[in-house]
Amino acid sequence: ASAEFQTGMLAGKRVVITAGPTREAIDPVRYISNHSSGKMGYALAQACAEAGAICTLISGPTQLNCPPHCQRIDVESAQQMHEAALKAVNDCDIFIATAAVADFRPLQAADQKIKKQADSDTMTLEMVKNPDILADVANSQQRPFCVGFAAETQDVERYARGKLERKNLNMVIANDVSQQGIGFNSDDNQVLIVDAKGSKALDKLSKAELARHLIREISERFQKAD
Ligand code: CTP
Ligand code: CA
Repeated sequence: ASAEFQTGMLAGKRVVITAGPTREAIDPVRYISNHSSGKMGYALAQACAEAGAICTLISGPTQLNCPPHCQRIDVESAQQMHEAALKAVNDCDIFIATAAVADFRPLQAADQKIKKQADSDTMTLEMVKNPDILADVANSQQRPFCVGFAAETQDVERYARGKLERKNLNMVIANDVSQQGIGFNSDDNQVLIVDAKGSKALDKLSKAELARHLIREISERFQKAD
């Protein structure tokens, strides 16, 4: 670890991070999900632990190993992640939402495998909105310092600031996922930090490197907010 981490910027602080995709069941053998790898959230969890934090990682299904000195809670659906997050944020200092939560889930997961209908070439799935985990944490009684991520394909800063305000957050870390080689499922990322004071663009970095920078940016703002 570099000198940066021996300072223990987050020594003894409790950090909860959501990461990865969620899976929304259609029937016992099918689901709706997305391409999130979980890499950014896991890298942040690792950087948090290196900075001395007590880190809980609430994770959807990923191919990644839990970083050392972090506690992982495995979930599948957005509803499970919501329940786990609201439980875990009691007594927590910082909440970081990196998960790519499915915005909608099938209204009803079928009990049995859905069969094709011989008389129809189309099928319709009715969807219902999932709870907003981050917004609910930010509005909870023991509100931690709240950090959101925003993956956008256009008007990055404007949409990110909209989320900052609408969800009542301390910071939003935004990236443009329309660009090749950054963001979703990639090893590199380039982000814009948006908070009440303004916006700050960071250089393109590996997710591990970026995570360390972000933990510094987060802990500086967290300490000022305290
Ligand atoms: N988020 C969450 N729970 C949800 C949806 C999003 O906790 N049900 C969190 C994400 O983890 C992220 C932030 O909210 O930190 C923004 O997610 P994003 O998908 O960019 O924004 P949405 O509010 O879902 O808006 P939209 O997808 O319409 O842009
Ligand atoms: Ca969304």
